Amino acid sequence: MAVLLKAQDLTTNFYTYEGAVKALDKFSLSIDHGCTFGLVGESGCGKSVTVRSMLRVIQSPGVIEGGKVLFSEKADAEPVDLLALTEEEMESVRGDSISMIFQEPNAALNPVITIGDQVAESFLFHRVAEMSQKICDAIDSGESYGLLTPYYRAMLGVAAKNPKAPLLKFCSQVPFLKWWDKPVKKEALQRAIKIIGKLGIANPEEIVTRYPHNLSGGMKQRIVIAIALACHPTLLIADEATSNLDVTVQAQILQLLNDLKKESISSILLITHDLGVVAETCEKVGVMYAGTLCETGDVKDVFSTPLHPYTQALLTSVPKFNQEGELQSIEGSVPNLVNPPSGCRFHPRCPKAMDKCSTDKPELKELIPGHLVACHHADRVIGGLS
Ligand SMILES: Nc1ncnc2c1ncn2[C@@H]1O[C@H](COP(=O)(O)OP(=O)(O)O)[C@@H](O)[C@H]1O
Ligand SMILES: [Mg+2]
Repeated sequence: MAVLLKAQDLTTNFYTYEGAVKALDKFSLSIDHGCTFGLVGESGCGKSVTVRSMLRVIQSPGVIEGGKVLFSEKADAEPVDLLALTEEEMESVRGDSISMIFQEPNAALNPVITIGDQVAESFLFHRVAEMSQKICDAIDSGESYGLLTPYYRAMLGVAAKNPKAPLLKFCSQVPFLKWWDKPVKKEALQRAIKIIGKLGIANPEEIVTRYPHNLSGGMKQRIVIAIALACHPTLLIADEATSNLDVTVQAQILQLLNDLKKESISSILLITHDLGVVAETCEKVGVMYAGTLCETGDVKDVFSTPLHPYTQALLTSVPKFNQEGELQSIEGSVPNLVNPPSGCRFHPRCPKAMDKCSTDKPELKELIPGHLVACHHADRVIGGLS
């Protein structure tokens, strides 16, 4: 399977008054084309910092100190390092190739703009180049835009080549082209209605005329997904996007994401603290602890044969249907990342810790084909077995 996104030794610190918070410590992760990948870990372990670092939208006082984020949009293309792109190039990756949805839909929606205009705007923003190209093609083929003079055709050609050109603004400043923005806006609204309908919302024609406060939490989150999907991303990142919703709505949205993946998106990175969600929706999983990746592989392998003591502990702390006796919790607490434990960050809480664990950071190794673990103990056990 071809790799879509690969983080290598990603390191991010936050420089606070208490000292440098070492939020990501040589974090590595690999997501394949066509895969639904679940990133799990306790609250505060660095899931959001990971995706924000990969997309270079880390908030101050955060600094990406090192590493690579290799992205191959096409399965057979050479990967590009997102950390080496200019901010302008990165903006077009964020707009066209990778979309992100967050936990709080209210933060992503503008309260004073109708739902229809917000989804349509996403189409307009991301597809300006595509639309202007369409118009240029229409001009060339002598369709209805044939009245345009060669001068305007040339201008449109320039705009078509520059996806970041605010084409609509440009057109509205040229009196002769003002009439043009109406059909384009109408087309974007039609696309918005179509995508909202696809997301299982009844009566999309009416919904587009409403404002965010008229909709329920589940509906708003679907609208946010519609906005994210408007640019046909290769990768959709959902950071706890369903955590605030009630269980049935959450299940519907997860189902929806999976259906959409089949038809329009290549891969999904689902970030959650809920192991049940991962078990039900993902093919691959990565387990994070205190800014490092402990274990990764196929969901069925990792959940049935967890090799890292942290994954083992995490799985025994999940209530089961036929649970007998008390639920196990993980002893100790999440470490302070200003002074993280040396060696393996989990060693102070680990029942299997050896001397080496407090001094040497374990590397992520493929101990079983397709199943990678960063643990000296697992290394020894599996190494001894094979
Ligand atoms: N703005 C910030 N300032 C200082 N530290 C931060 C900031 N944002 C995140 N961190 C640190 O990064 C760690 C990981 O945070 P985060 O990625 O939000 O966790 P998660 O998404 O897994 O709940 C936090 O425990 C915190 O120590
Ligand atoms: Mg988070």
